[in-house]
Amino acid sequence: MAQEPYRPRRSVLYMPASNERALAKIASLACDAVIIDLEDGVAPADKVSARDRLAGILGTRAERRCEMIVRVNPLASEWGVDDLLAVAKAGPDGILLPKVTTPRDILEAGDLLDDNSAPDSVTLWAMIETPKALLNSGAIAELGRDPASRLACFVAGTNDLVKATGILATPDRRYLMPWLLQLVLAARAGGLDVIDGVANDFRDLEAFARECAEAAAMGFDGKSLIHPAQIEAANRAFAPSPEALAGARAIRDAFARPENAGKGVIALDGRMVERLHLAEAEKLLAKAAIISA
Ligand code: COA
Ligand code: MG
Repeated sequence: MAQEPYRPRRSVLYMPASNERALAKIASLACDAVIIDLEDGVAPADKVSARDRLAGILGTRAERRCEMIVRVNPLASEWGVDDLLAVAKAGPDGILLPKVTTPRDILEAGDLLDDNSAPDSVTLWAMIETPKALLNSGAIAELGRDPASRLACFVAGTNDLVKATGILATPDRRYLMPWLLQLVLAARAGGLDVIDGVANDFRDLEAFARECAEAAAMGFDGKSLIHPAQIEAANRAFAPSPEALAGARAIRDAFARPENAGKGVIALDGRMVERLHLAEAEKLLAKAAIISA
């Protein structure tokens, strides 16, 4: 469901629903998606007023060009159900559920949306940020194969994972890596998009660009951002590189030559290239075309 046609989710920027100055920037930012946050970015005393402001924020539909996602509070919290009902009415593109641990969490949220006549186009995104969620990520991702579940995207909650597991957060993220790769694997098995967690040090853009490049190499579709200064690096890292595009064009052109018609495997510059590489190349070229459109 999330995979075709390609929808860019390279840069996914959080902004607290209580931060008017940040919200006012939505229309001018080049990010692919924003997550308007009612959960950890908003203090308990501000949660209800932040929720009440949503309809106004999402009402500016005409000028928006990025995907608008709202992160609600956990359904089991005192705000969760009211958040979900208010958001469903306000008409976002998607709803991000925090602290998901089992497939049931997705199904319950989906039922609430269905019961309250939320359009089918409203997707569910799931934060994977607890040990239990990671262990269940394969079963949760399976829901992605059923469009009725609305599930479209996983978002890694790396700060919560570090906190819940007690691993050391190092700049190279070495202890997180196995879990991040497991998350990508689960997402692919369910046909979901998958977004890497945030980099807290938003002033170190060099380190941030490295982290984006690594996340792209690991198969992530995009990166969670906390500051507008991070948008450009993420957009670049998760778009096909000029080198990758040149390689894809060479493969497409090679298979198009008359002498290669009908061949399953050919040699190109001393390398074996199969039809699966052609399919991959065509996908990459289509992705680049959508991004530049
Ligand atoms: N979205 C949109 N605009 C943002 C933004 C965001 N996430 N973060 C900062 N900005 C804006 C600021 O409002 C400011 O614009 P202004 O001068 O018109 O007010 C401009 O960018 C520069 O901000 P800066 O001074 O560099 O940062 P800050 O000290 O104001 O804010 C943070 C730093 C981390 C508090 C802020 O970036 C933030 O709240 N990020 C999101 C955090 C979040 O949502 N966390 C929960 C999920 S992990
Ligand atoms: Mg969290």
